[in-house]
Amino acid sequence: MVEPIRKSTREEREKWLAEAKNNVFMLKAEQVYIDLLTDSGTGSMSDRQWSALMMGDESYSGARSFFEFKDVVTALTGFEYVIPTHQGRAAENVLFSYLVKPGQVIPGNAHFDTTKGHIEARKAFAIDVTCDEAKDTQLEAPFKGNVSLEKLEKVLKENPGNVPFMVLTVTNNTVGGQPVSMANIKATCELCHKYGVAVNMDSARFAENAYFIKTREPGYADKSIKQIAKEMFSYVDSMTMSAKKDGLVNMGGFIATNKAEWYEGCKQFCIPFEGFLTYGGMNGRDMGALAVGLMENTEFDMLDTRIRQVQYLASKLDEYGIPYQRPAGGHAIFVDADKVLDQIPKEEFPAQRLTCELYLEAGIRACEIGYILADRDPVTRENRFGGLDFVRLCIPRRVYTNNHMDVIAAALKNVYDRRMSIKRGLRILKEAPLMRHFTVELERL
Ligand code: F0G
Repeated sequence: MVEPIRKSTREEREKWLAEAKNNVFMLKAEQVYIDLLTDSGTGSMSDRQWSALMMGDESYSGARSFFEFKDVVTALTGFEYVIPTHQGRAAENVLFSYLVKPGQVIPGNAHFDTTKGHIEARKAFAIDVTCDEAKDTQLEAPFKGNVSLEKLEKVLKENPGNVPFMVLTVTNNTVGGQPVSMANIKATCELCHKYGVAVNMDSARFAENAYFIKTREPGYADKSIKQIAKEMFSYVDSMTMSAKKDGLVNMGGFIATNKAEWYEGCKQFCIPFEGFLTYGGMNGRDMGALAVGLMENTEFDMLDTRIRQVQYLASKLDEYGIPYQRPAGGHAIFVDADKVLDQIPKEEFPAQRLTCELYLEAGIRACEIGYILADRDPVTRENRFGGLDFVRLCIPRRVYTNNHMDVIAAALKNVYDRRMSIKRGLRILKEAPLMRHFTVELERL
Protein backbone atom coordinates (compact mmCIF):
# COMPACT_ATOMS: atom_id res chain seq x y z
CA MET A 1 0.00 0.00 0.00
CA VAL A 2 1.44 3.41 -0.90
CA GLU A 3 0.09 6.90 -0.36
CA PRO A 4 1.04 10.20 -1.97
CA ILE A 5 2.65 12.84 0.22
CA ARG A 6 2.66 16.55 -0.49
CA LYS A 7 5.37 19.16 -0.30
CA SER A 8 4.47 22.58 1.09
CA THR A 9 6.08 26.02 1.19
CA ARG A 10 7.74 27.57 4.21
CA GLU A 11 5.06 30.27 4.16
CA GLU A 12 2.29 27.66 4.37
CA ARG A 13 4.07 25.86 7.21
CA GLU A 14 4.52 29.10 9.17
CA LYS A 15 0.78 29.68 8.95
CA TRP A 16 -0.18 26.10 9.81
CA LEU A 17 2.17 25.88 12.79
CA ALA A 18 0.85 29.19 14.15
CA GLU A 19 -2.70 27.87 13.79
CA ALA A 20 -1.58 24.69 15.60
CA LYS A 21 -0.25 26.88 18.46
CA ASN A 22 3.25 25.44 17.96
CA ASN A 23 2.01 21.98 18.91
CA VAL A 24 2.61 19.50 16.08
CA PHE A 25 -0.14 17.20 17.38
CA MET A 26 -2.55 19.91 16.26
CA LEU A 27 -1.39 19.87 12.63
CA LYS A 28 -3.47 18.15 9.99
CA ALA A 29 -1.66 15.11 8.61
CA GLU A 30 -1.95 16.56 5.10
CA GLN A 31 0.14 19.51 6.26
CA VAL A 32 2.99 17.11 6.93
CA TYR A 33 5.54 15.91 4.34
CA ILE A 34 7.31 13.14 6.31
CA ASP A 35 5.53 12.06 9.46
CA LEU A 36 7.81 10.94 12.28
CA LEU A 37 5.38 11.76 15.07
CA THR A 38 5.17 8.14 16.12
CA ASP A 39 5.63 4.52 15.11
CA SER A 40 2.32 3.75 16.80
CA GLY A 41 -0.36 2.47 14.45
CA THR A 42 1.40 4.12 11.51
CA GLY A 43 2.99 1.04 9.93
CA SER A 44 1.91 -0.71 6.74
CA MET A 45 0.27 -4.10 6.92
CA SER A 46 1.49 -7.02 4.85
CA ASP A 47 -0.39 -9.01 2.20
CA ARG A 48 -0.99 -11.73 4.78
CA GLN A 49 -2.40 -9.24 7.27
CA TRP A 50 -4.78 -7.78 4.69
CA SER A 51 -5.87 -11.33 3.85
CA ALA A 52 -6.54 -12.02 7.51
CA LEU A 53 -8.79 -8.93 7.64
CA MET A 54 -11.07 -10.55 5.09
CA MET A 55 -11.45 -13.62 7.28
CA GLY A 56 -12.51 -11.85 10.48
CA ASP A 57 -15.23 -13.42 12.60
CA GLU A 58 -17.32 -10.58 14.02
CA SER A 59 -19.36 -12.65 16.48
CA TYR A 60 -20.01 -10.72 19.66
CA SER A 61 -18.80 -13.57 21.82
CA GLY A 62 -16.48 -16.49 21.24
CA ALA A 63 -15.29 -15.32 17.79
CA ARG A 64 -12.84 -17.58 15.97
CA SER A 65 -10.64 -14.51 15.39
CA PHE A 66 -10.25 -14.08 19.15
CA PHE A 67 -9.06 -17.65 19.62
CA GLU A 68 -6.62 -17.35 16.71
CA PHE A 69 -5.20 -14.20 18.26
CA LYS A 70 -5.14 -15.64 21.77
CA ASP A 71 -3.33 -18.80 20.58
CA VAL A 72 -0.60 -16.67 18.98
CA VAL A 73 -0.18 -14.61 22.16
CA THR A 74 0.02 -17.77 24.27
CA ALA A 75 2.53 -19.35 21.88
CA LEU A 76 4.76 -16.26 21.91
CA THR A 77 4.52 -15.35 25.59
CA GLY A 78 3.49 -18.46 27.52
CA PHE A 79 0.55 -16.52 29.05
CA GLU A 80 -2.78 -18.36 29.10
CA TYR A 81 -5.12 -15.52 30.04
CA VAL A 82 -5.44 -12.91 27.30
CA ILE A 83 -7.68 -9.84 27.47
CA PRO A 84 -7.97 -7.79 24.27
CA THR A 85 -8.25 -4.00 24.58
CA HIS A 86 -8.51 -1.25 21.99
CA GLN A 87 -4.92 -0.05 22.54
CA GLY A 88 -2.06 -0.06 25.05
CA ARG A 89 -3.34 2.64 27.37
CA ALA A 90 -6.66 0.80 27.56
CA ALA A 91 -4.80 -2.29 28.75
CA GLU A 92 -3.16 -0.08 31.40
CA ASN A 93 -6.54 1.35 32.34
CA VAL A 94 -8.07 -2.09 32.86
CA LEU A 95 -5.13 -3.60 34.76
CA PHE A 96 -4.44 -0.50 36.86
CA SER A 97 -8.14 -0.06 37.71
CA TYR A 98 -7.86 -3.44 39.37
CA LEU A 99 -4.41 -3.08 40.93
CA VAL A 100 -3.60 0.56 41.76
CA LYS A 101 -4.82 2.30 44.93
CA PRO A 102 -4.20 5.90 46.05
CA GLY A 103 -0.87 6.46 47.77
CA GLN A 104 0.81 3.39 46.29
CA VAL A 105 4.18 3.45 44.62
CA ILE A 106 4.90 1.90 41.22
CA PRO A 107 8.57 1.83 40.21
CA GLY A 108 9.53 1.50 36.56
CA ASN A 109 12.30 2.08 34.04
CA ALA A 110 10.90 5.38 32.75
CA HIS A 111 7.13 4.87 32.56
CA PHE A 112 5.62 5.92 29.25
CA ASP A 113 3.43 9.03 29.61
CA THR A 114 0.09 7.23 29.50
CA THR A 115 1.41 4.69 32.02
CA LYS A 116 2.51 7.49 34.33
CA GLY A 117 -0.78 9.27 33.65
CA HIS A 118 -2.83 6.23 34.65
CA ILE A 119 -0.81 5.89 37.86
CA GLU A 120 -0.94 9.57 38.81
CA ALA A 121 -4.63 9.88 37.93
CA ARG A 122 -5.20 7.25 40.63
CA LYS A 123 -3.22 9.36 43.13
CA ALA A 124 -0.40 6.84 43.16
CA PHE A 125 3.27 7.58 42.43
CA ALA A 126 5.39 6.51 39.46
CA ILE A 127 9.05 6.34 40.47
CA ASP A 128 11.73 6.14 37.81
CA VAL A 129 14.43 3.54 38.45
CA THR A 130 16.23 3.64 35.08
CA CYS A 131 20.00 3.12 35.19
CA ASP A 132 22.15 6.26 35.18
CA GLU A 133 23.88 5.34 31.88
CA ALA A 134 20.70 6.49 30.13
CA LYS A 135 21.30 10.08 31.23
CA ASP A 136 24.57 10.42 29.33
CA THR A 137 23.44 10.62 25.72
CA GLN A 138 26.98 10.35 24.35
CA LEU A 139 27.83 7.16 26.23
CA GLU A 140 27.83 4.07 23.99
CA ALA A 141 26.36 1.27 26.09
CA PRO A 142 24.39 -1.72 24.79
CA PHE A 143 21.50 -1.71 27.27
CA LYS A 144 20.77 1.84 28.39
CA GLY A 145 17.12 0.93 29.02
CA ASN A 146 18.10 -1.22 31.99
CA VAL A 147 16.70 -0.96 35.50
CA SER A 148 19.05 0.22 38.22
CA LEU A 149 18.73 -2.61 40.74
CA GLU A 150 20.02 -0.30 43.45
CA LYS A 151 17.34 2.32 42.82
CA LEU A 152 14.68 -0.39 42.56
CA GLU A 153 15.70 -2.04 45.81
CA LYS A 154 15.61 1.30 47.62
CA VAL A 155 11.99 1.85 46.51
CA LEU A 156 11.02 -1.71 47.46
CA LYS A 157 12.68 -1.42 50.87
CA GLU A 158 11.20 1.97 51.68
CA ASN A 159 7.63 1.03 50.70
CA PRO A 160 6.87 -2.38 52.18
CA GLY A 161 3.36 -3.54 51.35
CA ASN A 162 2.74 -0.44 49.26
CA VAL A 163 4.08 -1.52 45.84
CA PRO A 164 1.37 -3.39 43.89
CA PHE A 165 3.73 -4.16 40.98
CA MET A 166 6.65 -2.80 39.01
CA VAL A 167 6.52 -1.74 35.33
CA LEU A 168 9.34 -3.03 33.15
CA THR A 169 9.18 -1.29 29.77
CA VAL A 170 10.86 -2.92 26.76
CA THR A 171 12.31 -1.22 24.90
CA ASN A 172 12.60 1.81 27.15
CA ASN A 173 10.86 4.37 24.94
CA THR A 174 11.30 7.48 27.09
CA VAL A 175 15.11 7.25 27.30
CA GLY A 176 15.50 6.66 23.57
CA GLY A 177 14.13 3.29 22.49
CA GLN A 178 16.96 1.71 24.45
CA PRO A 179 16.82 -2.02 25.19
CA VAL A 180 16.85 -3.93 28.46
CA SER A 181 19.16 -6.93 28.65
CA MET A 182 17.93 -10.42 29.49
CA ALA A 183 20.25 -10.45 32.49
CA ASN A 184 18.64 -7.23 33.74
CA ILE A 185 15.09 -8.50 33.11
CA LYS A 186 15.91 -11.61 35.12
CA ALA A 187 17.63 -9.76 37.96
CA THR A 188 14.82 -7.16 38.14
CA CYS A 189 12.20 -9.88 38.42
CA GLU A 190 14.17 -11.82 41.02
CA LEU A 191 14.56 -8.69 43.12
CA CYS A 192 10.87 -7.78 42.89
CA HIS A 193 9.80 -11.33 43.68
CA LYS A 194 12.10 -11.38 46.71
CA TYR A 195 10.03 -8.48 48.05
CA GLY A 196 6.77 -10.16 47.02
CA VAL A 197 6.19 -7.63 44.22
CA ALA A 198 4.92 -8.68 40.77
CA VAL A 199 6.35 -7.38 37.50
CA ASN A 200 4.24 -6.16 34.59
CA MET A 201 6.09 -5.92 31.29
CA ASP A 202 5.05 -2.95 29.16
CA SER A 203 5.72 -4.84 25.95
CA ALA A 204 4.95 -2.31 23.20
CA ARG A 205 8.34 -2.99 21.55
CA PHE A 206 9.22 -6.41 22.97
CA ALA A 207 10.32 -7.79 19.57
CA GLU A 208 12.77 -4.92 19.02
CA ASN A 209 14.09 -5.57 22.52
CA ALA A 210 14.55 -9.26 21.65
CA TYR A 211 16.47 -8.22 18.51
CA PHE A 212 18.94 -6.22 20.61
CA ILE A 213 19.37 -9.14 23.03
CA LYS A 214 20.12 -11.42 20.08
CA THR A 215 22.59 -9.03 18.50
CA ARG A 216 24.26 -7.63 21.65
CA GLU A 217 24.02 -9.98 24.61
CA PRO A 218 26.44 -12.90 24.91
CA GLY A 219 24.75 -16.30 24.64
CA TYR A 220 21.79 -15.23 22.48
CA ALA A 221 23.22 -14.98 18.95
CA ASP A 222 22.00 -18.44 17.99
CA LYS A 223 18.54 -18.14 19.52
CA SER A 224 15.53 -17.09 17.47
CA ILE A 225 13.60 -13.90 18.25
CA LYS A 226 10.64 -16.06 19.28
CA GLN A 227 12.78 -18.06 21.73
CA ILE A 228 14.23 -14.86 23.21
CA ALA A 229 10.81 -13.23 23.54
CA LYS A 230 9.44 -16.30 25.29
CA GLU A 231 12.32 -16.21 27.76
CA MET A 232 11.73 -12.48 28.42
CA PHE A 233 8.08 -13.15 29.26
CA SER A 234 8.92 -16.21 31.36
CA TYR A 235 10.32 -14.01 34.15
CA VAL A 236 7.43 -11.52 34.45
CA ASP A 237 3.95 -11.91 35.91
CA SER A 238 1.94 -10.11 33.27
CA MET A 239 2.18 -7.93 30.22
CA THR A 240 0.35 -4.93 28.84
CA MET A 241 0.76 -4.42 25.12
CA SER A 242 0.20 -1.64 22.68
CA ALA A 243 -0.18 -3.77 19.55
CA LYS A 244 0.16 -0.62 17.43
CA LYS A 245 3.94 -0.96 17.57
CA ASP A 246 5.39 -4.48 17.48
CA GLY A 247 1.99 -6.00 16.64
CA LEU A 248 2.12 -4.23 13.24
CA VAL A 249 -1.51 -3.12 13.36
CA ASN A 250 -3.11 0.30 13.27
CA MET A 251 -5.12 -0.20 16.46
CA GLY A 252 -5.14 -2.79 19.23
CA GLY A 253 -3.75 -3.91 22.54
CA PHE A 254 -4.06 -6.57 25.20
CA ILE A 255 -3.23 -7.78 28.70
CA ALA A 256 -1.83 -11.27 29.22
CA THR A 257 -0.94 -13.15 32.40
CA ASN A 258 -0.94 -16.54 34.08
CA LYS A 259 -2.29 -15.07 37.32
CA ALA A 260 -5.87 -16.32 37.57
CA GLU A 261 -6.81 -13.75 40.22
CA TRP A 262 -5.57 -10.85 38.09
CA TYR A 263 -7.54 -12.18 35.15
CA GLU A 264 -10.66 -12.34 37.31
CA GLY A 265 -9.95 -8.81 38.61
CA CYS A 266 -9.42 -7.38 35.14
CA LYS A 267 -12.58 -8.94 33.71
CA GLN A 268 -14.77 -6.64 35.77
CA PHE A 269 -13.09 -3.57 34.25
CA CYS A 270 -12.69 -4.89 30.70
CA ILE A 271 -16.39 -5.41 30.18
CA PRO A 272 -17.58 -1.87 31.03
CA PHE A 273 -14.54 -0.02 29.60
CA GLU A 274 -13.57 -2.07 26.56
CA GLY A 275 -16.19 -4.66 25.73
CA PHE A 276 -16.84 -8.34 26.13
CA LEU A 277 -13.82 -10.52 26.93
CA THR A 278 -13.43 -11.98 23.45
CA TYR A 279 -13.22 -8.65 21.64
CA GLY A 280 -12.36 -5.93 24.22
CA GLY A 281 -12.46 -2.99 21.84
CA MET A 282 -11.18 -4.79 18.75
CA ASN A 283 -12.96 -6.03 15.66
CA GLY A 284 -12.64 -9.73 14.83
CA ARG A 285 -10.78 -8.82 11.65
CA ASP A 286 -8.34 -6.65 13.59
CA MET A 287 -7.55 -9.52 15.96
CA GLY A 288 -6.89 -11.65 12.88
CA ALA A 289 -4.48 -9.09 11.41
CA LEU A 290 -2.80 -8.73 14.80
CA ALA A 291 -2.24 -12.49 15.09
CA VAL A 292 -0.41 -12.40 11.74
CA GLY A 293 1.46 -9.19 12.64
CA LEU A 294 2.79 -10.66 15.88
CA MET A 295 4.13 -13.68 14.04
CA GLU A 296 5.72 -11.59 11.27
CA ASN A 297 7.37 -9.08 13.56
CA THR A 298 9.03 -11.78 15.64
CA GLU A 299 11.08 -12.84 12.61
CA PHE A 300 14.69 -11.70 12.57
CA ASP A 301 14.71 -10.44 8.96
CA MET A 302 11.80 -8.09 9.53
CA LEU A 303 13.42 -6.58 12.63
CA ASP A 304 16.86 -6.44 11.05
CA THR A 305 15.56 -4.41 8.09
CA ARG A 306 13.64 -2.05 10.33
CA ILE A 307 16.31 -1.41 12.93
CA ARG A 308 19.01 -1.02 10.29
CA GLN A 309 16.93 1.74 8.72
CA VAL A 310 16.91 3.59 12.04
CA GLN A 311 20.68 3.01 12.25
CA TYR A 312 21.08 4.35 8.70
CA LEU A 313 19.48 7.63 9.78
CA ALA A 314 21.81 7.68 12.78
CA SER A 315 24.85 7.26 10.53
CA LYS A 316 23.75 10.35 8.57
CA LEU A 317 23.46 12.37 11.78
CA ASP A 318 26.94 11.16 12.75
CA GLU A 319 28.21 12.49 9.45
CA TYR A 320 26.73 15.90 10.29
CA GLY A 321 27.81 15.86 13.94
CA ILE A 322 24.27 16.11 15.34
CA PRO A 323 24.05 14.76 18.92
CA TYR A 324 21.48 12.09 19.77
CA GLN A 325 20.97 9.38 22.39
CA ARG A 326 23.66 6.86 21.51
CA PRO A 327 23.50 4.18 20.27
CA ALA A 328 20.48 4.51 17.92
CA GLY A 329 17.27 3.19 19.47
CA GLY A 330 15.02 0.50 18.07
CA HIS A 331 12.18 2.65 16.77
CA ALA A 332 13.59 6.14 16.68
CA ILE A 333 16.48 8.55 16.91
CA PHE A 334 16.25 10.83 19.92
CA VAL A 335 18.04 14.08 19.14
CA ASP A 336 19.56 15.68 22.23
CA ALA A 337 17.92 19.12 22.00
CA ASP A 338 19.61 20.44 25.14
CA LYS A 339 22.93 20.02 23.32
CA VAL A 340 21.72 21.40 19.96
CA LEU A 341 20.00 24.49 21.37
CA ASP A 342 22.08 24.91 24.52
CA GLN A 343 21.56 28.68 24.41
CA ILE A 344 17.84 28.18 25.15
CA PRO A 345 17.00 27.73 28.86
CA LYS A 346 15.05 24.65 29.97
CA GLU A 347 12.15 26.91 30.94
CA GLU A 348 11.70 27.69 27.23
CA PHE A 349 11.54 24.03 26.12
CA PRO A 350 14.45 23.60 23.66
CA ALA A 351 13.21 20.27 22.25
CA GLN A 352 9.81 21.72 21.42
CA ARG A 353 11.50 24.64 19.68
CA LEU A 354 13.68 22.26 17.66
CA THR A 355 10.59 20.20 16.75
CA CYS A 356 8.96 23.40 15.43
CA GLU A 357 12.11 24.35 13.48
CA LEU A 358 12.31 20.95 11.78
CA TYR A 359 8.69 21.26 10.71
CA LEU A 360 9.22 24.79 9.40
CA GLU A 361 12.38 23.68 7.57
CA ALA A 362 10.98 20.75 5.65
CA GLY A 363 7.46 19.77 6.78
CA ILE A 364 8.87 16.94 8.89
CA ARG A 365 6.80 16.22 11.97
CA ALA A 366 8.83 14.88 14.89
CA CYS A 367 7.73 14.75 18.52
CA GLU A 368 9.00 16.28 21.73
CA ILE A 369 9.91 13.65 24.31
CA GLY A 370 11.16 16.07 26.89
CA TYR A 371 10.17 18.67 29.43
CA ILE A 372 6.67 19.25 28.11
CA LEU A 373 5.90 15.55 27.95
CA ALA A 374 7.32 15.14 31.48
CA ASP A 375 4.31 17.09 32.86
CA ARG A 376 4.38 18.89 36.20
CA ASP A 377 5.17 17.23 39.52
CA PRO A 378 1.78 16.20 40.93
CA VAL A 379 2.66 17.54 44.40
CA THR A 380 4.66 20.74 43.78
CA ARG A 381 3.11 21.50 40.34
CA GLU A 382 6.58 22.56 39.17
CA ASN A 383 7.81 21.59 35.71
CA ARG A 384 9.92 18.44 35.81
CA PHE A 385 13.28 19.39 34.34
CA GLY A 386 15.20 16.45 35.79
CA GLY A 387 15.10 14.22 32.72
CA LEU A 388 16.28 14.52 29.14
CA ASP A 389 14.92 16.83 26.46
CA PHE A 390 14.67 15.00 23.17
CA VAL A 391 13.25 15.47 19.71
CA ARG A 392 12.16 12.01 18.66
CA LEU A 393 12.47 11.10 15.00
CA CYS A 394 10.25 8.05 15.11
CA ILE A 395 10.26 5.74 12.12
CA PRO A 396 7.01 3.99 11.14
CA ARG A 397 7.41 0.32 10.20
CA ARG A 398 7.48 -0.57 6.50
CA VAL A 399 6.53 2.96 5.36
CA TYR A 400 9.49 5.12 4.36
CA THR A 401 12.59 4.42 2.24
CA ASN A 402 16.17 5.40 2.94
CA ASN A 403 15.62 8.31 0.53
CA HIS A 404 13.26 9.73 3.12
CA MET A 405 15.96 9.18 5.77
CA ASP A 406 18.33 11.27 3.62
CA VAL A 407 15.78 14.11 3.45
CA ILE A 408 15.21 13.99 7.21
CA ALA A 409 18.94 14.14 7.93
CA ALA A 410 19.52 16.98 5.44
CA ALA A 411 16.66 19.01 6.92
CA LEU A 412 17.98 18.53 10.42
CA LYS A 413 21.48 19.49 9.28
CA ASN A 414 20.11 22.76 7.87
CA VAL A 415 18.52 23.57 11.23
CA TYR A 416 21.67 22.46 13.05
CA ASP A 417 23.87 24.70 10.93
CA ARG A 418 21.79 27.77 11.80
CA ARG A 419 21.18 26.77 15.42
CA MET A 420 22.95 29.82 16.88
CA SER A 421 20.41 32.09 15.18
CA ILE A 422 17.61 30.44 17.22
CA LYS A 423 17.80 32.54 20.35
CA ARG A 424 14.60 31.84 22.24
CA GLY A 425 12.23 28.97 22.92
CA LEU A 426 8.52 28.89 23.71
CA ARG A 427 6.12 29.83 26.44
CA ILE A 428 3.09 27.76 27.46
CA LEU A 429 -0.22 29.55 26.98
CA LYS A 430 -2.55 26.72 27.94
CA GLU A 431 -2.00 23.22 29.28
CA ALA A 432 -3.96 20.26 30.62
CA PRO A 433 -3.21 19.08 34.18
CA LEU A 434 -2.09 15.63 32.93
CA MET A 435 -0.58 14.45 29.63
CA ARG A 436 -0.35 18.05 28.53
CA HIS A 437 1.84 17.52 25.47
CA PHE A 438 -1.03 16.32 23.31
CA THR A 439 -3.02 19.53 23.62
CA VAL A 440 -0.63 22.18 24.93
CA GLU A 441 -0.76 25.62 23.32
CA LEU A 442 2.49 27.54 22.99
CA GLU A 443 3.79 30.89 21.90
CA ARG A 444 7.15 31.39 20.19
CA LEU A 445 9.36 33.86 22.06
N1 F0G B 1 3.72 1.91 26.53
C1 F0G B 1 4.70 2.37 25.73
C2 F0G B 1 6.11 2.00 25.99
C3 F0G B 1 4.36 3.19 24.64
O1 F0G B 1 5.33 3.65 23.86
C4 F0G B 1 3.01 3.51 24.41
C5 F0G B 1 2.61 4.36 23.32
C6 F0G B 1 2.04 2.98 25.28
C7 F0G B 1 2.43 2.18 26.33
C8 F0G B 1 0.57 3.28 25.11
O2 F0G B 1 0.06 2.59 24.03
O3 F0G B 1 -0.63 4.35 22.38
O4 F0G B 1 -1.47 1.99 22.21
O5 F0G B 1 -2.27 3.48 24.00
N2 F0G B 1 3.42 5.03 22.66
C9 F0G B 1 3.18 5.83 21.47
C10 F0G B 1 4.43 6.57 21.12
C11 F0G B 1 1.97 6.66 21.50
O6 F0G B 1 4.33 7.46 20.25
O7 F0G B 1 5.50 6.27 21.64
P1 F0G B 1 -1.14 3.14 23.11
